[in-house]
Amino acid sequence: MKKFILSTVCLVASTFCFAQNKADAVVHLNQGQHQISRHIYGQFTEHLGRCIYDGLWVGEKSPIPNVNGVRKDIIDALKEIKVPNLRWPGGCFADEYHWMDGIGPREKRPKMVNTNWGGVVEDNSFGTHEFLNLCEAIGTEPYICGNVGSGTVEEMSKWVEYITSEGESPMSNLRKQNGREKPWKVKFWGVGNENWGCGGNMTAEEYANQYRRYATFCRDYGSNKLYKIAGGPNSTDTLWMETMMKDIPHFMVKGISLHNYTLTYNWENKGAATGFTEDDYFSLLSNGYDMNKIVSAHCAVMDKFDPKKEIGLVVDEWGAWYNVEPGTNPGFLYQQNTLRDALLAGVILNIFHQHCDRIRIANIAQMVNVLQALFLTKDDKMILTPTYYVFDMYKVHQDATMLPLELNSPAYSRQGRQIKAVSASASKDVNGKIHISFVNIDPEKAIEISCNLDGVTKEKLVSGNVITAPKVDTFNTFENPNQVTLKEFKDAKLKNGVLELKLPAKSLVTVELN
Ligand code: AHR
Repeated sequence: MKKFILSTVCLVASTFCFAQNKADAVVHLNQGQHQISRHIYGQFTEHLGRCIYDGLWVGEKSPIPNVNGVRKDIIDALKEIKVPNLRWPGGCFADEYHWMDGIGPREKRPKMVNTNWGGVVEDNSFGTHEFLNLCEAIGTEPYICGNVGSGTVEEMSKWVEYITSEGESPMSNLRKQNGREKPWKVKFWGVGNENWGCGGNMTAEEYANQYRRYATFCRDYGSNKLYKIAGGPNSTDTLWMETMMKDIPHFMVKGISLHNYTLTYNWENKGAATGFTEDDYFSLLSNGYDMNKIVSAHCAVMDKFDPKKEIGLVVDEWGAWYNVEPGTNPGFLYQQNTLRDALLAGVILNIFHQHCDRIRIANIAQMVNVLQALFLTKDDKMILTPTYYVFDMYKVHQDATMLPLELNSPAYSRQGRQIKAVSASASKDVNGKIHISFVNIDPEKAIEISCNLDGVTKEKLVSGNVITAPKVDTFNTFENPNQVTLKEFKDAKLKNGVLELKLPAKSLVTVELN
């Protein structure tokens, strides 16, 4: 009898554990409706710390290989991940930036103090031409943020004219004098940044009034049609969103921005980028999942005023924000980037996919040496961070049709709190290839997934890739740059319309079916 009870207990316990390590999903292959805009994979570069200077920009005379002054190793790596758009010059810096200081011969450009970021001298050597040449070199669309906080309507409208006007006009002539005959195409324009804070500390009503003036005088020249983006709310502030939707006539605005950073705990305790505890790890990822609630709340407000979803939600600053690396300038926001950041990026990109009917653009903050960076540089050395590899893995979803996915995930629990261990999303590209991405945030347990493909099931499993590492805080260093990379994934099989795969603990996996 005793033996029987014991073996029953063992059986129940093992069944429970086994069940805990299993997830099931259904992907509806024929029910895709909305496109995952490639612009969800945008990047952000601000005149902040070592992002532009010492990161991207080394100057034409540098011994570091460069294309028109921008590091060639970074340009090559950016082409690899098909960067769709690049936001510049800020951030908070944008509302203190006067673009005319950054054109013409570099030695004659005036200097300024970057009061937002470390009080360093900005010599304006990276300006409009340098930025737009960089975008051309990478093959990406520029996204320029204008100065509302300390600028004027005239200044911003002239910037649009300088860049995009073809014919005989004062600003077009000035551009030609500065060596650029043909105008550039620049569609995306942000009208100020965080105008509830560093962009002028305005009320929502004050900003909406400003927006209407600025937007009126930023003109379309020739075939260059502007996609104007209003400065949106901070994180959960749905009242700000409501005011934008009410006070800005909809014909004047294409997108409304949203900024939401992920912190380990709060702004007073942002946590460490490396060497964190499992509690810190859990808390950060749990806060990462909150992006879904935040985006959903803003979408609900937008739906009320714009049920046809004509205005896009533009999440043009997102990512993990930790305490700066010890020994670095606190105003430079330099932080390391671990496997945890890759997992966070996967979870958040899956959320953006699920809201792709409303989210049209997103920009991770920031591209080089600042916050959740894709690249870290030190003199002539450059490393790709774990987050870079997520953008490489997920590029297959760009402009693909999002496929509805139902997921039953085991929980990852810590101190009585629970979050889903698995996050997932799926899409079908223009060539009919299906990509399914899974993230397993459980730091200890591998999870077996059984994924039903509902619909036509002639697909074959073609390939898969995985990002994982020995520990959740493993990171790449200049001495050891390949600790976390993208590798081939073989632990998947497809039979009778069911995809079975074993997701390693703390990993991201994407499979391709054709
Ligand atoms: O990305 C760093 C800063 O965060 C940006 O300048 C600002 O817009 C935000 O507060």
